[in-house]
Amino acid sequence: MFSLRCALVSLFAGVAVVVAAPASSFHHDHDQISTFSNKVIFTPPTNYTDPRVLYSRTVELLDGTLLATWENYSPEPPLVYFPIYQSKDAGQTWSEIGKVTDQVNGWGLRYQPFLYELPEEFGGFPAGTVLCAGNSIPTDLSQTRIDVYASVDQGRTWKFVSHVAAGGKAVPDNGETPIWEPFLMMYKDQLVIYYSDQRDPLHGQKLVHQTSRNVETWSDPVDDVSYSTYTARPGMTTVTQLPDGRYMMTYEYGGGPGFSGYSFPVYYRINADPLKFNDSIGYPVVVGSTHPVSSPYVTWSSVGGKNGTIIVSSGTNSQIFVNRALGDQGKWEMYNTPQPVAYTRHLRVFKEDQSKLLIMGAGHLPPSTTNNVSLSVIDLAKTLNLS
Ligand SMILES: *[C@@H]1O[C@H](CO)[C@@H](O)[C@H](O)[C@H]1NC(C)=O
Ligand SMILES: *[C@@H]1O[C@H](CO)[C@@H](O)[C@H](O)[C@H]1NC(C)=O
Ligand SMILES: *[C@@H]1O[C@H](CO)[C@@H](O)[C@H](O)[C@H]1NC(C)=O
Ligand SMILES: *[C@@H]1O[C@H](CO)[C@@H](O)[C@H](O)[C@H]1NC(C)=O
Repeated sequence: MFSLRCALVSLFAGVAVVVAAPASSFHHDHDQISTFSNKVIFTPPTNYTDPRVLYSRTVELLDGTLLATWENYSPEPPLVYFPIYQSKDAGQTWSEIGKVTDQVNGWGLRYQPFLYELPEEFGGFPAGTVLCAGNSIPTDLSQTRIDVYASVDQGRTWKFVSHVAAGGKAVPDNGETPIWEPFLMMYKDQLVIYYSDQRDPLHGQKLVHQTSRNVETWSDPVDDVSYSTYTARPGMTTVTQLPDGRYMMTYEYGGGPGFSGYSFPVYYRINADPLKFNDSIGYPVVVGSTHPVSSPYVTWSSVGGKNGTIIVSSGTNSQIFVNRALGDQGKWEMYNTPQPVAYTRHLRVFKEDQSKLLIMGAGHLPPSTTNNVSLSVIDLAKTLNLS
């Protein structure tokens, strides 16, 4: 997180636009995953607080259902929550089916939601349980807490499971002590939660993870990226697995080298063990003279031969950055997409058709009164001229 967020209440009232989902559509067959461009699925009412919506995320459930959520700046009271939208037709139509509300802190669920489906029975939760991690923060932004909620009915109802970590006020300045931006992943019978951490007095911000064997109790934090320069602010971990078994994380390197002012170049690290990224060297994503900056997201698709294709989004480009050489530093390429640039755009490759890539955005950091939630589904093979 790289910019101060402000909370300005808009004076105007407006209307929520919800695209209704047909009752019966359901996709198993990849022929039914259609491509489309920049479809708006939620326009916040004008009485929402600036920036109204931001930071969208999705999950694809075992049966192909998609769920989406985002930071939702609805007028308070009631306390803000993470909306849960569902699509049964690979992202074409969506409807609201649930809400993740703060059940324990009395603060609201305010920033940085992340959705994850347990692929197998874990810690007493059945396979298919949906987890939502996010940052619970009171209206005055005086505290931060990364909490995990679970749904055993595909996102309709939610129950609090655990507090992972707690930090100070939700202001991204060096010397403050908040935590930010959780990302969940299973690894070897453990649930890993990666996040950004400003609590260590030696680092303006660093990246850490904690692990759990039951979603309830969590190990102590372990560093993933920490630079010796105090003012460095590595942030926003996302992780994907490569076909050779190794893992790649991307992050924004606040204070990274090569820029005239303070910037947030997109970096990546690779390690066979996703709990040991601190041992790896970080490299920038660079294509010619293009240096993508801020709020990256990484995923991988099997399309494109033995190495498949690593796909990275950034906060400064509507293009995607791809690497078909397992992360080789000199092998990044850039391709246009129809999805507009947004803060922390989200990527998802469909399980049943690895050539279909969902890109979702929810607009820009405040001040913004035009943010909405929209997505594109593109054909990767066509985009990369592979077919
Ligand atoms: C905000 O606007 C929506 C849509 O116009 C309306 O339904 C809702 O009651 C308004 N909320 C407040 C607190 O004014
Ligand atoms: C993490 O790596 C940095 C070097 O990049 C090193 O200075 C630091 O000691 C490491 N932290 C741990 C906990 O090993
Ligand atoms: C796959 O990755 C390896 C390792 O970087 C590279 O040598 C090889 O050329 C890549 N294959 C393709 C088709 O790019
Ligand atoms: C959605 O936001 C974009 C700017 O990010 C704007 O150009 C577009 O008009 C908005 N669409 C709707 C339907 O509000």
